[in-house]
Amino acid sequence: METFPFLTETVYFHPQTTLFQLTLIMKKKLLVCTGGGDCPGLNAVIRAIVNSAEADGNWEVYGSIEAYNGVLMDPMEIVPLNGQNTGGIHVRGGTIIGTTNRGGPFGWPVQQPDGSWTSEDRSDELLRRLKAEGFEAVISIGGDGSQAISQKLFEKGLHIVGVPKTIDNDLSATDYTFGFQTAVQIATEAVDKLVTTAESHSRVMILEVMGRDAGWIALHAAIAGGAEICLIPEIPYDIEKVKAAIDARYQQRRGFVNIVVAEGAKPKGGEVVATEAQEAGYGHARLGGIGFALKESLQQHGCTASMRVTVLGHLQRGGIPEAFDRILATQFGVKAFELVKEGKYGHMAALRHKEIIAVPLEEAIAHYNYVDPEGYLVHCARQVGISFGD
Ligand code: F6P
Repeated sequence: METFPFLTETVYFHPQTTLFQLTLIMKKKLLVCTGGGDCPGLNAVIRAIVNSAEADGNWEVYGSIEAYNGVLMDPMEIVPLNGQNTGGIHVRGGTIIGTTNRGGPFGWPVQQPDGSWTSEDRSDELLRRLKAEGFEAVISIGGDGSQAISQKLFEKGLHIVGVPKTIDNDLSATDYTFGFQTAVQIATEAVDKLVTTAESHSRVMILEVMGRDAGWIALHAAIAGGAEICLIPEIPYDIEKVKAAIDARYQQRRGFVNIVVAEGAKPKGGEVVATEAQEAGYGHARLGGIGFALKESLQQHGCTASMRVTVLGHLQRGGIPEAFDRILATQFGVKAFELVKEGKYGHMAALRHKEIIAVPLEEAIAHYNYVDPEGYLVHCARQVGISFGD
């Protein structure tokens, strides 16, 4: 196993130390990994796990670099995590142990001699390596894709606990995922800034935000920022209706419009704007470009207003987590460690009605958390005058 010289400890035993005494001082090994796109709050989860384990006193915590890659690489990249190297990291965005949204143990990308890529299942090898390294349990912090992997590994016998993360808030088992509030705050601040310039120039400002299949960030930012139009994947839009909403605003002599559009939004009967991912093992198409496509489509439908497009992109995923996300992430970390201690494997920490609970991974990955077009939040948005272009 790869070790870091400055972190290794040498323990000398007295020759008369008994086996019983040895087992008393031998700690169990817990592996933590972060998978999928990064998200503000990941470090707060890691710190909470480490602090809980140190308080417990019976566990050593390690981090696998870039999800399971650290275990499957040669040499392995597994680092010890302790109070010293995780102290204060809860305020930092990203993840100190790295992450990846490519491949995974069930679909490890392998390059062929002709340069093309195939994938192979290395899950058995992963389990063998974890056993050989003496790991008792694994905590996997990740979104729906990562938790689907957790469930498959659990079915193969791995002692695994999940922690949900994603800025998209698209896991139905938990009321919120950490990272979401931070992304909403960043998107709302962007709307606030665009409103003043839209007003000054009597323009239509289009803000493209993240949200692959769920429009939660767009919907929250549109309501919080007071946008006029919000386009989300769950409510396909009619371009004529979007144009009519813009025209109505200009006719009211309030000649500026703010549109928040989720990257996964699409016109009725149309497709999302996506490009094929170039990176090997990247499981889905890369979304992005709907903002510009919308502007073009509006122009083709006779919209003459001056329009500008802003794509917020990964700004939504970086930087300092909001207090809410740090607190939620800390609760998830503490809960995940408790689940490990209780041996409640195959479960994921979740927030449900203010309580932090454990849900079976199988249940956690069964349903996607879409915005309900008939739900109260959409109703509320409509009541304050937001058009969904439908
Ligand atoms: O899943 C979160 C998310 O932010 C999506 O909204 C977005 O489509 C995706 O990640 C982009 O991820 P990346 O650029 O890291 O591949």
